[in-house]
Amino acid sequence: MKAVVIENYGGPEVLRLKEVPTPSVTGHSQVLVRVRAASVNPLDYQVRRGDYAPLFNLPIITGHDVAGDVIAVGEGVKKWRPGDKVYYSPRFGGPGSYAEYHLTDESSLSAMPDHLSYEEAAAAPLVGGTVWEMLVVRAQLKEGDTILIPGGAGGVGSLAIQVAKSLGAFVYTTGQSILQAQLHRLGADVVIDHHKKNYIEEIQAHTKGRGVDVIIDTVGGSTLSDSPLALADYGRIVTLVDIALPQNLIHAWERNATYHFVFTRQSREELHPITSLIETGQVKPVIDSVYPIDDAQSAHRRIEDAKRDRPLLGKIVLSL
Ligand SMILES: NC(=O)c1ccc[n+]([C@@H]2O[C@H](COP(=O)([O-])OP(=O)(O)OC[C@H]3O[C@@H](n4cnc5c(N)ncnc54)[C@H](OP(=O)(O)O)[C@@H]3O)[C@@H](O)[C@H]2O)c1
Repeated sequence: MKAVVIENYGGPEVLRLKEVPTPSVTGHSQVLVRVRAASVNPLDYQVRRGDYAPLFNLPIITGHDVAGDVIAVGEGVKKWRPGDKVYYSPRFGGPGSYAEYHLTDESSLSAMPDHLSYEEAAAAPLVGGTVWEMLVVRAQLKEGDTILIPGGAGGVGSLAIQVAKSLGAFVYTTGQSILQAQLHRLGADVVIDHHKKNYIEEIQAHTKGRGVDVIIDTVGGSTLSDSPLALADYGRIVTLVDIALPQNLIHAWERNATYHFVFTRQSREELHPITSLIETGQVKPVIDSVYPIDDAQSAHRRIEDAKRDRPLLGKIVLSL
């Protein structure tokens, strides 16, 4: 089969399309999937550049989202049959999805919503489970809450806005002015251009000094320490981003804030409610762009390039 193989850590140029052996079902609960689309996550380029090098032995195939067709199943698999359309997030640390075929355990699979294309479906599993964990399991976001979602145009943000809206929250987000109309269409009530304005001052002005009930941090760095200045008393902050440098959390202490730290569990159970929201039309994966698998290098350049000429909106997808 064709696969994008990483033989050395480095820039996008280390992603090489190669011919590698096709995996086959040998275990009781295994399922072989023909991958039709895989999406690109920051985790993929973090793996590619070697951020998790102690956890892997090269060569590796990265990729943390799959949409595709079941090809073969182990003898213990009763729920899935060849031809079923599935989507899921391959386990972090195992073989990834930038390949024509992916071998997984049946416990990871969810049925793909009928009306989605493979590209749309591949955009959902990793960010979907992550967003549910952040908004519902941790922040316990409820109707009438106010929430700030920085990075609203990103893969996580573009889904989080829609899910927060479906839960009845009033949504503030940050995003470039050129994307304002699209971010409002996703469900954002207020869009603040983080390249032109100070989001803390804007939130303080909009909320008359009260702040918001919930902030989800998809940006990292000083957002973790500064964003409590836009938080209401006893508010909740959920952060997704690793904390590379020590941060002073004095502003969080002044607000009696609660912090939640999320490293996604890639849980099928947390994707299920997102599947329901997709099926009822309340949520739709947003596709930024689609690249053929043999141009994975360009896909990585686009997600990593902070100075891209056209701003990112949603997920970058690889089609196979
Ligand atoms: N812990 C976990 O389990 C987990 C799971 C998923 C993702 N993550 C992490 O979450 C982060 C976001 O993931 P993603 O998939 O959404 O990434 P993404 O698709 O690359 O989106 C990043 C977004 O953040 C915006 N942004 C960058 N710097 C900003 C700033 N200073 N202020 C406001 N917005 C800013 C970008 O907007 P511009 O174009 O304007 O720069 C872009 O829209 C990544 O660091 C990723 O590793 C963690």
